[in-house]
Amino acid sequence: MAFSLDYFKNQIQKLEDKFFGDFQKRVEPAQRLMSYYRCALMEVETKFKVLNEELSFLHERNPIDNIRTRVKDFESIRKKLRQRRFPLTLDSIEQNLHDVAGIRVICPFVDDIYVLADCFLRQDDITLLEKKDYIARPKENGYRSLHLIIEIPIFLHNEKRNMKVEVQLRTIAMDFWANLEHRLRYKKDISAEAAKKLLGRVHTNKM
Ligand code: GTP
Ligand code: MG
Repeated sequence: MAFSLDYFKNQIQKLEDKFFGDFQKRVEPAQRLMSYYRCALMEVETKFKVLNEELSFLHERNPIDNIRTRVKDFESIRKKLRQRRFPLTLDSIEQNLHDVAGIRVICPFVDDIYVLADCFLRQDDITLLEKKDYIARPKENGYRSLHLIIEIPIFLHNEKRNMKVEVQLRTIAMDFWANLEHRLRYKKDISAEAAKKLLGRVHTNKM
């Protein structure tokens, strides 16, 4: 029995459709989870924007200079789960990683950080899971920021879901330092000692 060219084209088309159908079914839950993290970031960002708006009336200046958000990419998620020997599943991402959704709130002054953190944490839909105050106790390399791991509900069409978000609050000066330090860490042609010296000069005003 002879098969026509159209028959083969048709078979290939069917295989392609099945492959992409299966692929779509597998990736959809992961894309959905990442979208929940984006929703949580929208909620947290709005809270800080509201505080910025209101506090600007009280203090006659804005306590927030800028806000940045990011959702960790899959490659970094996979690496982190592997490194820490956690299972590579969606449940494991939610249970074991607390920084899939990250927001950085950059303030002019140190006092702004504590006022904002306090107002934010007092809101009754925010649950504080962990706090690291690298401003009161800077890391050995000089890194300074206030880190909060929180849980916030997002309201979907038929459910409420609690999502974890990592909030980093720092001043403009601390942010400048952290970005420089991050870059220097990947510059292999500079010694650790030289990097520390360079960063030390940037840090002198402690703002
Ligand atoms: P990670 O595995 O990096 O999440 O560390 P951790 O779980 O011990 O949390 P930690 O609160 O110490 O750090 C979380 C995040 O803060 C990092 O992912 C960085 O964005 C930032 N960070 C912490 N330490 C440093 C540092 O020494 N330099 C810079 N540039 N950023 C840092
Ligand atoms: Mg992290």
